[in-house]
Amino acid sequence: MMDNKCTFAILTGGGDAPGLNAVIRGAAKTFLNNGCKVYGSINGFNGLVNGKLEPLDYKRISGILPRGGTILGTTNRDNPFRFAVHNEKGLVFEDRRQMVLDNLKKHNIEALVVIGGDGSLAIGAQLARECGVNVVGCPKTIDNDILGTERTFGFDTAMSAATDAIDRLHTTAESHHRVMVLEVMGRYAGWIALHSGIAGGADVILLPEIPYQIDKVIEKIEARKAAGKSFSIVVVAEGAKPVGGELSVARVVKESFDTIRLGGAGEKVAKAIEEMTGIESRNTTLGYLQRGGTPTAFDRVLATRYGVVAAESCLKGEYNVMMSLQDDQIKAVDLQIAGSGSRNVPLDFELIRVGRELGISFGD
Ligand code: F6P
Repeated sequence: MMDNKCTFAILTGGGDAPGLNAVIRGAAKTFLNNGCKVYGSINGFNGLVNGKLEPLDYKRISGILPRGGTILGTTNRDNPFRFAVHNEKGLVFEDRRQMVLDNLKKHNIEALVVIGGDGSLAIGAQLARECGVNVVGCPKTIDNDILGTERTFGFDTAMSAATDAIDRLHTTAESHHRVMVLEVMGRYAGWIALHSGIAGGADVILLPEIPYQIDKVIEKIEARKAAGKSFSIVVVAEGAKPVGGELSVARVVKESFDTIRLGGAGEKVAKAIEEMTGIESRNTTLGYLQRGGTPTAFDRVLATRYGVVAAESCLKGEYNVMMSLQDDQIKAVDLQIAGSGSRNVPLDFELIRVGRELGISFGD
């Protein structure tokens, strides 16, 4: 372990996910218990650019384990290498890396724990690569789509919320003889849709990884009707698209790392089903309800492990790594892997086969 004069900083970046506070608590307690000082950067990388760093003590991190969101605040807009500024010329991007380096130096910060998704981890990796900053990453996102780890924290809570939503939709579907469509988040990966669809007993699951043919979806619903089932449950990932078709884009956020925000795939599917079958069909978009609120026990434990092991890594001087879950062990992988792409559901993933054996249609 390093001497006890070291100072570290923690930041949370990108969309919030249940378990962020558990990571902050796990890492901060480990630093404090080892005699170190620890700061929290307010609102992700914005705090490092603008010098908004708050000391974290036992009092500040008390009672936060079960709380959703992040006590440090977050944003998916402030990239120090491409910092969005609105001035008389409109939206311009400035390189503000030197401000980050100055603030790290000013507070004598030895290393930075970056808790984030692919965007924030990619920024952390760039700070390490191009500026020599010591960084340890923790993989956060409800989407479970980060390369280099089998599981991100936040996913279990989102999957549980989506499953609960399917259970609730079932009662209306059954009572009203309707097709109920649920659109879930996940960006370009279908982890939430697949797991919640299996857990909730969906009849159709549409994933970004398997472009769908609407005729196949209709076939399944008609077959259920012919077998005396007057309702169906369809789970649609927000990134699902028809064969040869486009993604459903809800908005563009120019300042953001990933500028596209998805939305509308479920509504599109529900409309087509109603038109083609004559069965009343309704879409529900679960949205931020699957991202907020208290983390499940699984996410609290996973997030705590990530935070503690990330701090241990800092104390040992092992930097430029990301914490990763592999075979139920927290291991360190190269930080550069994290932001280098999206981890999608493999087409030969067991749960897809399981779904097919159950008779679930994937629209192909
Ligand atoms: O990455 C998490 C996530 O919730 C995605 O599932 C979703 O597509 C996106 O963030 C929404 O982003 P925003 O909070 O900017 O609307």
